[in-house]
Amino acid sequence: MAYINDNYLKLPGNYLFAEIAKRRTNFAKAHPEADIISLGIGDVTRPLQPEIIDSIHRAADEMADAKTFKGYGPDGYGYDFLIKAVIENDYKPRGVSLAPDEVFISDGAKSDTANIQEIFGLNNVVALTDPVYPVYLDSNVMAGRTGEYDSESRRFAGVVYMPCTLENGFLPELPQQRADLIYLCFPNNPTGAAITREQLQKWVDYARQNNSIILYDSAYEAYITEPDIPHSIYEIEGAKNVAIEFRSFSKTAGFTGTRCAYTVVPKSVMAESGSGRRVSLNQLWYRRQTTKFNGTAYIVQRAAEAVYSREGKKQTQAVIDYYMSNAAIIRKGLMDAGIEVFGGVNAPYIWMKTPNGMDSWAFFDKLLGETHIVGTPGAGFGPSGQGYFRLTAFGSKENTERAVDRIRTRLKL
Ligand code: MLT
Repeated sequence: MAYINDNYLKLPGNYLFAEIAKRRTNFAKAHPEADIISLGIGDVTRPLQPEIIDSIHRAADEMADAKTFKGYGPDGYGYDFLIKAVIENDYKPRGVSLAPDEVFISDGAKSDTANIQEIFGLNNVVALTDPVYPVYLDSNVMAGRTGEYDSESRRFAGVVYMPCTLENGFLPELPQQRADLIYLCFPNNPTGAAITREQLQKWVDYARQNNSIILYDSAYEAYITEPDIPHSIYEIEGAKNVAIEFRSFSKTAGFTGTRCAYTVVPKSVMAESGSGRRVSLNQLWYRRQTTKFNGTAYIVQRAAEAVYSREGKKQTQAVIDYYMSNAAIIRKGLMDAGIEVFGGVNAPYIWMKTPNGMDSWAFFDKLLGETHIVGTPGAGFGPSGQGYFRLTAFGSKENTERAVDRIRTRLKL
């Protein structure tokens, strides 16, 4: 008899977005006439931009010719041309210097943020914001880094939850108890909150004082519109000793279906072995990636490189502006309808209070039933998300306007 990984049984229900997809499909089956608008999962709707498509065509032609054909890519990291473009464009202008072997190209920030916990011992205490992108928590549950799930508190034993509420402006407080691995995501998914340099400095200082590691997801940095909001944690003094950063082309350049991202692991980030030796996490991540991952497709890495060309930057920024104008439409529409809204200024997510303090999932059903709009219940991101609801700005402008109009005219508040 083979045995399963029992930790999987601790997880209550489906992965959040799988559950939403299931409910949407069931609703569509029961109401085939319904014209459903999805503002649920943060999936982009604008096509890849011409500069990127041209690069894909050129790379495809290279693959068709024995002289330029590519097999496996370089071990562990990714192609030099993309790593160089990342360092020159995403970091150097912000005063951050990185060596090429500190950047690991991958197929997604979702997989990287889920996999990174593998290089850490099971005895680490994990601290997470609440609400949180579920991948950070679920991957630690699967690994066995948590106790059982308590259905009353909706929390796992052994995890440090850091509530992000209206009272603290959706920014977590420094943990009072031991926290070895701290997951932070800014601009935040799901609340859309952003963190200032000064506020982020407190986290870096905390990590330095407590020998903690910050796992910093900045997948939405391209959506920052306000000054004094750091785009990278390495803009903060001392962060290169305590932080790993995750970035993605998914939301920045429409790669949700194309798949490309990268993770920065500075060689100066260290953690302790069981025998008390300080070990560079860069080495461990390299070992992990070379063992379990054969790299992102050459064609896709060429596509990502094109995001950094002069035209690529312009075209990509235009799409980001497009989504952010959707965010403004949603914000205004909801506010006009008397709904309290947050986010949507430095992030493509709008975090709204459910009307009359309604349960998040009940509001999901009501919104879908009355307006045929799919959103994401705040409670799906953690107990502190109860009474909130997330809408994304990644729809088409037309659908965004139609959705807001439906909320105004059809939703019985
Ligand atoms: C979300 O909707 O939170 C994101 O699309 C999920 C993801 O990026 O994996």
